[in-house]
Amino acid sequence: MKLNEITEPLLRWYQANARVLPWRENISPYRTWISEIMLQQTRVDTVIPYYERFLTELPTVADLAAVPETRLLKLWEGLGYYSRARNLQKAARCVIEKFDGEFPSSYDDILSLPGIGEYTAGAIASIAFEQPVPAVDGNVLRVVCRLTGDRRDIADPKTKNSIREALRNIYPSENCGDFTQSLMELGATVCLPNGAPRCESCPLAELCTARAEDTVMEIPVKARQKARKIEEKTILLITCGDQIAIRRRAGEGLLAGLWEFPMLPGHCSAEEAAAFLEEAGFQVKKLEKSVSAKHIFSHLEWHMRGFRVECAAMPSGFTWVTRRHLKDETALPTAFKAFRKLI
Ligand code: ADE
Repeated sequence: MKLNEITEPLLRWYQANARVLPWRENISPYRTWISEIMLQQTRVDTVIPYYERFLTELPTVADLAAVPETRLLKLWEGLGYYSRARNLQKAARCVIEKFDGEFPSSYDDILSLPGIGEYTAGAIASIAFEQPVPAVDGNVLRVVCRLTGDRRDIADPKTKNSIREALRNIYPSENCGDFTQSLMELGATVCLPNGAPRCESCPLAELCTARAEDTVMEIPVKARQKARKIEEKTILLITCGDQIAIRRRAGEGLLAGLWEFPMLPGHCSAEEAAAFLEEAGFQVKKLEKSVSAKHIFSHLEWHMRGFRVECAAMPSGFTWVTRRHLKDETALPTAFKAFRKLI
C-alpha cells in the first residue's frame, strides 16, 4: 500500500468522528502541552478531571511557573510519574526566562524544553501550531504497522524513527493538528490492541495490509520486556490520637520527594514490626495486621503488607498530620491507595 492514500480518508473520518475532549476545545500551546504530558502513561478517562482542575487552577504558563511545588504535586496526585509534573514546572520557567513568556513555536525550541521529547514536540507543533510534524506514540505505531504490514520491533527506536519519517511525507497542507490527532484517535478507538480491533468501523480497512493478509493479531511486533523486579514491603499505618505518621521520601529515585507511610523492607512478622516501632520510640499500644496490596510501576512491583498501629508517643523523625491534612495537602502516591483508604 502507499501510505499517502490514508491522509484524505483519515482526516475526513476524524472530522466526523472525533471524540469531544476538553483539550480539543480552545486549542493553545499551553493546553495542548499539558494534555499531552498527562496523557503519557495515563488513560483519557482518568486524565479529563485532572486536566480540567489543573487548567482551572493554573490557566497560564506564568501560573504554572509560579505555583508552589507542594500544590503542583497535589494537583498531580494519582496521575503517577511525578517527574512529569516537576518537568512541567521547569519547562514553564524556561518559557518565562528564555522565551519571554511566549510558548516557542519552532519544533527545535519546543524540543529543547525539559520533559518534552519528540512525541510531545510533534504533538504541540502540529496541534497547536499547525505544522506538518508527526507525533508517534504507541497508538500511532500500531496503526501504521498494521496499515503497511510492518513486522519490525516497535520497541526499537529505529522503527519509530523510520515511521516518523514516513508520516512526515504524507501530512496534508492544512489541518495538520487534526491529522496528528486522527492517527491517535484511530489507534485509541478503532485499531485497538490486544486482539480487539474494530476493523468493521475502520475508514482505512480497504487499504490495510494486515487486514488483507489476516495478520492484524500478530502486528505490531514488540520484543518482550524484561520481567519487573519484585520488592516486598511492610507498610505501617501508625496513629497517635488523631495524628498519622508519614515521612518524606528521598529527593532522588522512585517517587522522589513525595510522602509515604513509614515502611520496612521485606514482609515483616508482627514481632519484627513491633521491634522496629519500639526501637524508634513509638510506645505501641496496639498492632494488628491490615490489608495487603500490590502496586505496579513500569519497571518494578511492590508487594505490600500492612500493619495498623496505635501508639502512645510521637517520636521525631516522622511527620505527624491529621486525616484532613493528609487528604487535602499531602501528595501521597497512588501506590498507597489501599492503605490510605483505611485511615
Ligand atoms: N492521547 C495522546 N494524545 C491524545 C489526544 N490529543 N487526544 C486523545 N488521546 C490522546
